[in-house]
Amino acid sequence: MTTYLSPFTFENGIELRNRIVMAPMTTYSANPDDTVSDEELAYYEERSYGVGAVITACTYVIANGKGFPGQFAAHSDLYINSLRKVAQAIHKGGAKAILQIYHGGRQSPRELVPNGDVVSASDTIAADGGKARALTMEEIQDIVKAFGETTRRAIEAGFDGVEIHGANTYLLQQFFSGLTNKRVDEYGGTLEKRMRFPLEVITEVNRIKHQYADDSFIVGYRFSPEEPEEEGITLDDTVQLVDRLANEPLDYLHISLGDFRSLARRYEGEKEQRVKIIHRVIDGRVPLIGVGSICTKQDALEAMETGAELVALGRELLIEPHWVEKIIAGEEIITEMDMTRDNVIPSPLMRMMQAHPGWVAGVK
Ligand SMILES: Cc1cc2nc3c(=O)[nH]c(=O)nc-3n(C[C@H](O)[C@H](O)[C@H](O)COP(=O)(O)O)c2cc1C
Repeated sequence: MTTYLSPFTFENGIELRNRIVMAPMTTYSANPDDTVSDEELAYYEERSYGVGAVITACTYVIANGKGFPGQFAAHSDLYINSLRKVAQAIHKGGAKAILQIYHGGRQSPRELVPNGDVVSASDTIAADGGKARALTMEEIQDIVKAFGETTRRAIEAGFDGVEIHGANTYLLQQFFSGLTNKRVDEYGGTLEKRMRFPLEVITEVNRIKHQYADDSFIVGYRFSPEEPEEEGITLDDTVQLVDRLANEPLDYLHISLGDFRSLARRYEGEKEQRVKIIHRVIDGRVPLIGVGSICTKQDALEAMETGAELVALGRELLIEPHWVEKIIAGEEIITEMDMTRDNVIPSPLMRMMQAHPGWVAGVK
């Protein structure tokens, strides 16, 4: 019987020792020069001994895509050495290393982007309530190329793959969403045109992959299924996007959810679990990673019953860095964060958690 501990082989032949993936988590912990810090390297290594793959925190592909203080960078060749250390830390424990690549768009804090020039799909509101400006056609092409260049750096740095971050309201999602994309050129207006930018990024990432690596290099794509706002993404929109993505040269799709049990909100069909609906749409064309509030063995089993081929754990791996090893050994695991225990968590992330205990107080 296949369980979350069974090995998994991607279509390209790459094997994961089990189906548990570490979800991407931003740690705010880079050095002042945006290289990865020793604390963050220790954090990755600590979590690399049990899971099949580690997806890193998101890293930005171009200077105006920086979205968090202390985010490690990947937008220049100057950072290849820094990236190499991340890949090596993850490989120490035998996990595959996947670099999550992104652009923050309108969510980027103004003070982190050059000249405070926050950009998005259209003129819209930035995270600080000020203005985000529409990207020009030329800038869109520059960003598409930057995703490719960052993929090349990931290959040179020894990563096993990249995950294109099209979720969590960042730039790719801002293009797909009618809430933030009011363009009237070929990048907006219809659902099909709103998909264009993410699809161009996928094409460019694959072009670079074939230039510098071979089929074994993994390319994944993460998406958020719905937005709460009236004009935002509905699950019906996402069904169309996923149907399209499943035909693209991608090794996996990764849904972004806070709880894998969550139900569809705005959807024509029956209001069942979002993961189940998406898995049905994919119809075996590409593996799906499910995620969200998976803490116990039982949760992982239940998450796999949705059909998801792989399951990602985020906060639970902050709480229990050796979750997989402990489950295999039949040891007890805890599901409530114990801030007094040394969990090898970078101090800036620890401070964030202390300031917002609700984040990880207990995933459930
Ligand atoms: C501290 C923290 C940082 C996160 N950073 C990212 C990120 O960089 N990229 C991303 O796609 N998701 C990010 N997420 C979302 C997680 O990948 C995951 O989807 C979410 O935490 C739900 O899974 P969980 O219940 O297992 O934690 C972050 C979550 C947390 C708690």
